[in-house]
Amino acid sequence: MKGISPETIAYACKGGVERVAGWLEDGAMSIALVIDDIQRRHGIHGGTAEIGVHHGKFFILLASLLRDGERGVAVDVFEDQEFNLDLSGNGNQKIFEANLRRHLGDRRQVDILKADSLELSTADVVSRAGHIRIFSVDGCHTRQHTFNDITKASEALASGGVIMVDDIFNTEWRGVLEGTLDALAQTVELAPIITGHNKLVLCRSSDLAMYVQELGEALQRTGIHSPALDAPETTRIGTHEVMTLELPCPGDLLMERVVSLPTGSSVETAINLHSGFSVAESWGVWTDGSEAALTIEVGNIDHCADYRFRVYADAYYSKRSSKGQVANFFVNGDYAGTAYFNEQIARPYRQFSVPGSSLRSGKNEVLVHVERPTSPASEGVSDDPRKLGLALRRIEIYRRLVPDEWYHRRATR
Ligand SMILES: C[S@@+](CC[C@H](N)C(=O)[O-])C[C@H]1O[C@@H](n2cnc3c(N)ncnc32)[C@H](O)[C@@H]1O
Repeated sequence: MKGISPETIAYACKGGVERVAGWLEDGAMSIALVIDDIQRRHGIHGGTAEIGVHHGKFFILLASLLRDGERGVAVDVFEDQEFNLDLSGNGNQKIFEANLRRHLGDRRQVDILKADSLELSTADVVSRAGHIRIFSVDGCHTRQHTFNDITKASEALASGGVIMVDDIFNTEWRGVLEGTLDALAQTVELAPIITGHNKLVLCRSSDLAMYVQELGEALQRTGIHSPALDAPETTRIGTHEVMTLELPCPGDLLMERVVSLPTGSSVETAINLHSGFSVAESWGVWTDGSEAALTIEVGNIDHCADYRFRVYADAYYSKRSSKGQVANFFVNGDYAGTAYFNEQIARPYRQFSVPGSSLRSGKNEVLVHVERPTSPASEGVSDDPRKLGLALRRIEIYRRLVPDEWYHRRATR
């Protein structure tokens, strides 16, 4: 994810968001970051906006995504709570402004609009920030408000922009789903892209195919493993089947690929297969026996950073037992992780965290310990006598741009 600002990293990945009261899952921030990344790659420009900012928990993230020349609009009734018909949250302009200053400094790229969203006009937003590329709807949760807010957001939407609707499946706020269905039925232009982390992301129907394809590629680039992409779960929203996307925290998205090394015979690679491998084939190579050793050349290692090893592999295992195959990975003598293979787990790759302190600039030794090497001949499957374990296709190494520490601290609190 290139071009992400220091303000976004400080807010989303290093604890800023923790200091702002409100309602926001880590994964929802990740969805916004992935959408922003796709928009950057497609040259999609525009402002960011939210109806219902409360103390700014999500809006500050959206404002941190603003690029040069872009502006944000924050809409809330704030102290005029008589317009907050369902008492969802309780906006406070002073606290909101203080939070904005605290996390984004004096970057005055934001206009604050104290208004009841039913009285808001599209021009109120567009005259302040131009058309909007990410518009969050999280104000009053009645059916009427949700319909109104999505409709106005869609009128203010930039070409290629998205609307993120909060509380879509919250059973306490059924009006959100009802109002969204009304908007989808009446605003023919809109289509849902994904749901996840309490959000529904909508775009213009003409942009749907682009977003669905780009989401897969964006996640691939970030180096995260998303089970949702291997076996997408879907939810029905009106006439639409919508993919559910569960994402890790934003820090896990910020990874840079350091090396990507195929193991097949048809390519020159910086992987050296030493022992315990069969002859390389065009697709990759089989381990043969219980231990296989290889070395990987990596350029400059940052010993303070965290790295991820991503291993693309399938496995051979006895069809007579239900145990599947298990492989333990060691990097420069340190245990890195265990990969499990069985009929229930269908994933293109397995991923392990490796601290930079365990890696070397130059040659790195990787040892694979296969727990149940099995020969197809002994199983009567074929006359192949090799003791097969992993079918290794590719190894990739990623550097994590934001250290894990903050998440570790938070998890153990
Ligand atoms: C659930 S909170 C929003 C949470 C916020 N997005 C966050 O990140 O924590 C709902 C907000 O909508 C505001 N609100 C309620 N009714 C509204 C209306 N009719 N027009 C504009 N804002 C409204 C409330 O004051 C409150 O701040």
